[in-house]
Amino acid sequence: MKLSVIGLGKLGACSAACFSYKGFDVIGVDINKNFVDAINQGKAPVYEPRLQELISQSKGRLKATQDYEEALKESEVTFLIVPTPSKEDGHFSDKYLQDSLRHLAAALKRLNKKHHIFVITSTVSPGTTENQLIPLIETVSGRKLNKDFSVCYNPEFIALGSVITDFLNPDLILIGESQESAGRELEKIYEKVCDNKPRMARMSLVSAEITKISLNSYVTMKISFANTLANICESIPGADVDDITKALGADKRISPYYLKGGLSFGGPCFPRDNRAFSAFAAHYGIDAVLAKATDKVNHMQVEHLSSKIISYVSHYENKVISILGLAYKPNTPVIEESPAIKLIEDLLKKDMEVIVYDPLAMENVKAHFGDNILYASSVKDCFANTSICIIMSFFDEMKAIDNSYIINEPTVLIDCWRIMDPSLFNKKVIYIPLGRYTRDIK
Ligand SMILES: NC(=O)c1ccc[n+]([C@@H]2O[C@H](COP(=O)([O-])OP(=O)(O)OC[C@H]3O[C@@H](n4cnc5c(N)ncnc54)[C@H](O)[C@@H]3O)[C@@H](O)[C@H]2O)c1
Repeated sequence: MKLSVIGLGKLGACSAACFSYKGFDVIGVDINKNFVDAINQGKAPVYEPRLQELISQSKGRLKATQDYEEALKESEVTFLIVPTPSKEDGHFSDKYLQDSLRHLAAALKRLNKKHHIFVITSTVSPGTTENQLIPLIETVSGRKLNKDFSVCYNPEFIALGSVITDFLNPDLILIGESQESAGRELEKIYEKVCDNKPRMARMSLVSAEITKISLNSYVTMKISFANTLANICESIPGADVDDITKALGADKRISPYYLKGGLSFGGPCFPRDNRAFSAFAAHYGIDAVLAKATDKVNHMQVEHLSSKIISYVSHYENKVISILGLAYKPNTPVIEESPAIKLIEDLLKKDMEVIVYDPLAMENVKAHFGDNILYASSVKDCFANTSICIIMSFFDEMKAIDNSYIINEPTVLIDCWRIMDPSLFNKKVIYIPLGRYTRDIK
């Protein structure tokens, strides 16, 4: 079976690479010519661990074009993985889906194809596929749903930084289907692609659309709950959030995942999927109080950390704050809704000076903050310029941090995820783990 993938960005490039790596002939389409050229030169158009390796191993099965008709002609199934930016009201815009489907449907009209399956992978607001996208395909192509073409809704539950691993080893393949035969074809594709045997959840299009945003809204609720616990523990001598969440997670009604108290959630999916859940509920007259509270706790978490930092700054003459880890999670350059970015914005509002370092995200951060902050050339450089250092995420260079890095004594080290070993430091460091009680410094 031949596949096409429309949109070769962070998720689309990885999906196309995984499909071709697993033996499918794949043709990608993107309006960004650089991305098309990159794929045709065997290069990864975006950074993601293992993406380059998979593209290099696709052995001529992966190519790209800007011609939708060529892609449609050379495939039986088309995955649409284009952006669906959030609107002011929290719903997702389907503008880019409509743009690409208009081209594809026009090509379908011109081509003499027996049948085609369109798979919407982009995150959409519930109801979009049936109420907006299918009527558009029928109108432009003049073809009939479930006779000339069928449609599936098949979102991915990947995390940036581990897209390839997540894609090849999912817990769940979620398939909304306009007809049973289309869902079965998609299931067959994933049986070939996945390294594991995931649960196949097949249902109506709208149920799958609701499932996608509900899952992320639920996960963010867990994160906000763990963060609230962490904040409480900080005020209670002897309390340790990790001991508590490990025990909670052992109960199978709860599970241990996404239950580590620390920083707020960020990135291109969690915050906006949760807000989309509230917007969707409101559209049907339901006040999604839990989802709204999750969002509120997430904002408060940044303020909580910022106030803690300010309380330490008052003890120092050197008021430069260093931030290690800027992307919203490790192994990615993406800074969208990153807690580090929100923290820096808050600290700048409070007239603090900030110096930052991240192994992957520096270019994106420079584009965002320009000359308003200082940029370190290494982890060591960060420590040399500050007495207050905040560890926001973990990356390999941090493994080398020890006493020799500490230039200004004492240095306050705020460890948001409790990843450092405090026994590495002597009295040169005041170690402050979030989620555990620490005495005030005098
Ligand atoms: N990135 C993630 O972690 C993630 C996870 C789950 C779901 N999603 C969803 O997947 C979708 C894509 O996300 P992404 O992160 O890959 O976005 P992205 O911005 O990284 O990539 C989208 C690509 O689509 C291209 N594009 C835009 N309009 C097009 C058109 N008309 N025809 C062809 N190409 C077009 C863009 O040039 C870009 O390369 C979104 O709906 C997002 O919510 C993303």
